[in-house]
Amino acid sequence: MANTEKRTFDRLMVTGGCGFIGSNFIRYLLTETDYSGKIINVDRLTYAGNPFNLIDIEKKFPESYRFIAADIGNAKQMDDLFADYQIDAVCHFAAESHVDRSILEPDPFVQTNIVGTCVLLEISRKYSHQLKLFHHISTDEVFGSLGDTGYFTENSPYQPNSPYSASKAASDHMVCAYGKTYGLPFTLSNCSNNFGPFQFPEKLIPLMTLNALEYKSLPVYGDGKNVRDWLYVTDHCRAIWTIMTSGKTGNIYAIGGDAEMQNIEVVKQICTSLDYLLPSENKNRLDLITFVKDRPGHDHRYAIDCSKIKQTLGWKPVENFQSGLEKTISWYIHHKEWVKQVQSGEYRQWIEKQYLSS
Ligand code: NAD
Ligand code: DAU
Repeated sequence: MANTEKRTFDRLMVTGGCGFIGSNFIRYLLTETDYSGKIINVDRLTYAGNPFNLIDIEKKFPESYRFIAADIGNAKQMDDLFADYQIDAVCHFAAESHVDRSILEPDPFVQTNIVGTCVLLEISRKYSHQLKLFHHISTDEVFGSLGDTGYFTENSPYQPNSPYSASKAASDHMVCAYGKTYGLPFTLSNCSNNFGPFQFPEKLIPLMTLNALEYKSLPVYGDGKNVRDWLYVTDHCRAIWTIMTSGKTGNIYAIGGDAEMQNIEVVKQICTSLDYLLPSENKNRLDLITFVKDRPGHDHRYAIDCSKIKQTLGWKPVENFQSGLEKTISWYIHHKEWVKQVQSGEYRQWIEKQYLSS
């Protein structure tokens, strides 16, 4: 294992830390690693941002964890935060992340994913004297769509097909450009589809799980044969931290779960698992599957060859698809209050009152 660098941080800014992966990452850092510095979670609290995801962490780690409601696109706010907290590392998750929303309304994707990232980069450049690392979280979707064979690697050409992936591609290019032009110390990771606790129920796995729990229709796009490579979220968090602490500056790492599945197979497994856990005498959840109109420009297949991070940093996924799915389904079954708050929209009232009313 050719591991040459070891970094430590004291004041880490996590952007988008109230979303799905960001909140899992903060939880992971504070409960499963020896990180002993501070975490400053900067999140604008869009519909996808829910500080309730970290309410227990906020209580348990008052010295280490601080949440600030702020927009990464607001240069003044970011400048003040870098100065006040003497930020020495950034882990940048904040983004508009849902492909279907980007097809309906691309503008927020341009604003946050492109303009917001550029603002953050410019402030990072200004504070380069104190910044040890800018880690950019990206996606395999920037590489476009594969046929039935082949894999994406760190060297795959960029060919984004949706407004979401195009905006993420633009942000990747800006991060690399800041590295080359200004010497910004960065690392970047392109990861495949994540699943696990706290994922907003607009994405395939939580949507199908919650619909199936209530015996509602399960809308599968097109013929259901599109393929995604699934990674349990904690495995992604561990990969990010491994890259941040041990990855080579200026390097890109592809991350995947070695778990390619057709969408229809994913949905069938969710139905079968739920029928086993919560059976009904006269209802079969597989009957809820409904094929609906395809997503425009729907990418056929994503698959990742993550040999580089495995061979150079010694990371590999711990969960397989089945074990990750069992944990995920169990989490949604046992977190009824979170589900109720999110499905009813009540969490927004709490957020407005607590964080956004001034
Ligand atoms: P998410 O939508 O659950 O969370 C995004 C978070 O960013 C939310 O908390 C939101 O409030 C915040 N945010 C949005 N705009 C902001 C702004 N202008 N300023 C500050 N905060 C803002 O997304 P996720 O699924 O957790 O994805 C996190 C990152 O990982 C994204 O960059 C995404 O592109 C990338 N990614 C996601 C996956 C996946 O499968 N979910 C896979 C690979 C990469
Ligand atoms: O590959 C990484 C990407 O994975 C991330 O960059 C994105 O932020 C994340 O949202 C995810 O994108 P996808 O478009 O692959 O995820 P989504 O859960 O929206 O859809 C997964 C697959 O399931 C996709 O082929 C579309 C299909 N689908 C999705 C939904 C919501 C359905 O068939 N029915 C649905 O209702």
